[in-house]
Amino acid sequence: MALRITVIGTGYLGATHAAAMAELGFEVLGLDVVPEKIEMLSAGKVPMYEPGLEEILRKHVAGIEGSTGRLRFTTSWEEAGAFGDVHFVCVNTPQKHGEYACDMSYVDSAFESLAPQLTRPALVVGKSTVPVGSAARLAERLAELAPAGADVELAWNPEFLREGFAVDDTLHPDRIVVGVRSERAEKLLREVYAGPVGEGSPFVVTDFPTAELVKTSANSFLATKISFINAMAEVCEAADGDVVKLAEALGHDERIGKKFLRAGVGFGGGCLPKDIRAFMARAGELGADQALTFLREVDSINMRRRGHMVELAREAVGGGSFLGKRVAVLGASFKPDSDDVRDSPALNVAGQIHLQGGQVTVFDPKGMDNARRLFPTLGYADTALDAVRGADVVLHLTEWREFRELDVEALGEVAGRRIVLDGRNALDPAVWRAAGWTYRAMGRPKA
Ligand code: UDX
Repeated sequence: MALRITVIGTGYLGATHAAAMAELGFEVLGLDVVPEKIEMLSAGKVPMYEPGLEEILRKHVAGIEGSTGRLRFTTSWEEAGAFGDVHFVCVNTPQKHGEYACDMSYVDSAFESLAPQLTRPALVVGKSTVPVGSAARLAERLAELAPAGADVELAWNPEFLREGFAVDDTLHPDRIVVGVRSERAEKLLREVYAGPVGEGSPFVVTDFPTAELVKTSANSFLATKISFINAMAEVCEAADGDVVKLAEALGHDERIGKKFLRAGVGFGGGCLPKDIRAFMARAGELGADQALTFLREVDSINMRRRGHMVELAREAVGGGSFLGKRVAVLGASFKPDSDDVRDSPALNVAGQIHLQGGQVTVFDPKGMDNARRLFPTLGYADTALDAVRGADVVLHLTEWREFRELDVEALGEVAGRRIVLDGRNALDPAVWRAAGWTYRAMGRPKA
């Protein structure tokens, strides 16, 4: 009989994973402790903006006309325990309040709730990003709590999906990494991932700590690459060089590669910032903190970019105070094709200027609801044109395609002054300058 799969937690990772598993042909049960999420998902609606996700969800959710019916949702741990042969734990591990370490309470409580329901053989697979050593600890907890005893096993299978590409990254991953302690666990995971592996995704088998570390070190590498190019942007600004050309030229060296060399206001989101901090915290606990001191610099270069954008904006409005100045902010989400505003550089910059007395108006194609909830005191507009109306300076902080396609003539007619600061190096300077705008970007010559 085909494997039955449960997915615990239905956030970005879990909702996508559940839909993708149904797409691969499995019977899937998704569980979340928030009843409203379960109601939405059961009605075929996704609680966040993620291109393509709602389509595959609706293709499989039971009760939707024409669906395969392979995907259902529940809030019942008992039902999940009885249903699954393989249980994927996909809950969040956010940064702890006021600390570098991540908060393991959602992972821990998922294991505490699921394990007592495991009365028959099952494989529990952790996908959440956790401090190295967590899998070994959770395996012990499973052994203590699961009624089926040794028939219940743990594996660790980190997830590398990017928001905005979540569906594609899940169905066609760059690699599948599994940390296992038995052949049986490996065999089950090979069965689960037979589809993507058949289409060429490499399948890397290793132990628990290495599997956990692949995720945190991958994110650290990506963060380092971004901060490296942003450090070069600082030097370019000092030396009148052009970081965009520099990145292009560096990227031709295949050992370096073109990707993740976009300089600007830096990285944000629910993963990179908190993952590098949690990694440093964990290395400290292990007595290996010296190995990761460079990540402190990566973090601080990144945070400095936001402050630098505030200073560029201050200069653009005449220096000194922002009082009485109108600042248009294009972008709220931490990156395009996402409505996620967690640790968003755009909103951080907007918030700093607002606190310094500037009159800030934000527009984002998808992130407005989340931004309004998190930053209720900022001003918001329904269109880019309205945000720019009367503005003394326009800040481009999230590189949505729609901002590259703006009618810059029309914007110029409503703007107070035609000054645009490109915090993502994504706009075409020639187009803006031709329409009479002063265009300035991070890490590029002024003129
Ligand atoms: C990241 C990892 O890419 C993914 O593999 C992991 O599973 C989760 O964390 P995500 O947070 O969705 O994914 O976004 P990503 O595309 O990595 O971008 C992160 C941040 O870096 C964004 O704020 C983005 O704007 C910024 N970034 C990215 C740059 O500033 N420059 C770049 O060149 C690339």
